Amino acid sequence: MKILCVVGARPNFMKVAPVHAALVRRGVSSVLVHTGQHYDERMSDVFFRDLGMPRPQINLEVGSASHAVQTARIMEAFEVVLLREQPDGILVAGDVNSTIACALVAVKLGVRCAHLEAGLRSFDRTMPEEINRVLTDAISDVLLTPSPDADANLAGEGIAAHRIVRVGNAMIDSLVAHLPHAAATRTVESLELQPRGYALVTLHRPSNVDHRDGLASLLRVVARISHRLSIVFPVHPRTRARLVEFGLNPILESAGQLRLIDPLGYLEFLALQASARVVLTDSGGIQEETTALGIPCLTLRGTTERPITVAEGTNTVVGTAPERILSAVDDILAGRAKVGRIPSLWDGRAGERTADALVARWQTRAEPPAQQPAAG
Ligand code: UD1
Repeated sequence: MKILCVVGARPNFMKVAPVHAALVRRGVSSVLVHTGQHYDERMSDVFFRDLGMPRPQINLEVGSASHAVQTARIMEAFEVVLLREQPDGILVAGDVNSTIACALVAVKLGVRCAHLEAGLRSFDRTMPEEINRVLTDAISDVLLTPSPDADANLAGEGIAAHRIVRVGNAMIDSLVAHLPHAAATRTVESLELQPRGYALVTLHRPSNVDHRDGLASLLRVVARISHRLSIVFPVHPRTRARLVEFGLNPILESAGQLRLIDPLGYLEFLALQASARVVLTDSGGIQEETTALGIPCLTLRGTTERPITVAEGTNTVVGTAPERILSAVDDILAGRAKVGRIPSLWDGRAGERTADALVARWQTRAEPPAQQPAAG
C-alpha cells in the first residue's frame, strides 16, 4: 500500500511525523511530500531534524505568495506528483493552505483523501484556516478527529458517521515522544530564564498582526506585562515583517524584561512551554500543547477551534482587550491559574490509531487516477 503524506507549514510537521512512522511500521510505503509553503531553516528544516522525521522525498517548493497564488501553485505541482505516484490515498493535516490545496487535487482525480485533525471549528469564517477546515472536511473520504466536539461539528454539517474516525491528537504523540529531548536542549538556561519565572508569547494570526492599531495594542500589553514578569517572544516571520512595516519597534523599547528572538525549533520551543509560568498566544497548536503540559494558556483571540482545551484543559480565551489580558495574567501570578486535565485519546498513540484506520479502509485498491485530468 502506498500513501502520500502531505506537509506544508510548521504546524503540520509534528502531526504527520507520528502517522508517517506508524504507517512505515505497518509496511506501508509512506511518501512524505512537502509543498514548501514554509521553507526557512527555522520554519521547516529544523523540525525534520527535531522530530526525527526523514527528509521529504518530494518537495514542491511553492514558497510564499497570496492565498490564491500559493494555493494554485500547490495544486498545479501536486497534480503532477499524484498522477506520477499513483498512491492508494493521501493524508493531509490541519488547516493550512497546503491542506485544502492537496485534498482538492486528490478528490478531483478520484484519489482517496484522509484529513487528520478534522472537525475543528472556530465558527469564524474570516479566518483563512476556518475556510480550509470546512472545505477539506467536506471533500475528504476519511475524517480523523481529535476530540468529541469535532465529531459533533461534522455530524452537524451532515457528514455521514462512517466517514468519521476519532483517533485522538497526533500532535500530542510528538510531544510525548520528544519531551525528554526538549529538556536536554537546556533552552531555558541558555536564555537565562528561571523555570516558572517567565511568560512565553507568540503572535502570528493575520487578524492580530496585519492591522497596525491592533498589533500596537497587543505589543503595549506585552510591554506592560514585561515589567512584572520576564517575557520571551519568538517572532514569526509575518509578525517580524509587520513590526518593521508599521514602525512599532519603539513600543518595545519601553518594555521591561522582554526578549524578542527568532522562531525556535520544535524541541527548544517545547522546552520553553514546559517551564513557562504562562503562555500567551494566538496559535492553535500551542493551546493544545499547553493543555497536555498543564501550563496555563491565554489565547489572544475571540474564538477557538479547540474548545476542549478550555472545557478540560488549561486554556482561557481572553480575546485582545488589554484589561482582560492583564487581569488574566494577574490571576495567574496570584496563584489562581486554571488547573486542567488531559483529554482522552491525547495519549501518544493517535498515530498508531490513524495508521490502523487507513490500512483497514484502504486495503483494497481504488481505481487508478485518470492519466489525463479533464476539466469541463
Ligand atoms: C500559516 C498558516 C497558519 C499557521 C501558520 C504557522 C495558512 C492559511 N496559514 O500561516 O494556519 O498557523 O502557517 O506558521 O496556511 N515566511 C517566511 N519563511 C517561511 C514561511 C513564511 O519568511 O518559511 C514569511 C513570508 O513572508 C510569508 C509569511 O511568512 O509571506 C506568511 O507565511 P504563510 O505561509 O503565507 O502563512 P503563515 O502566516 O505562516
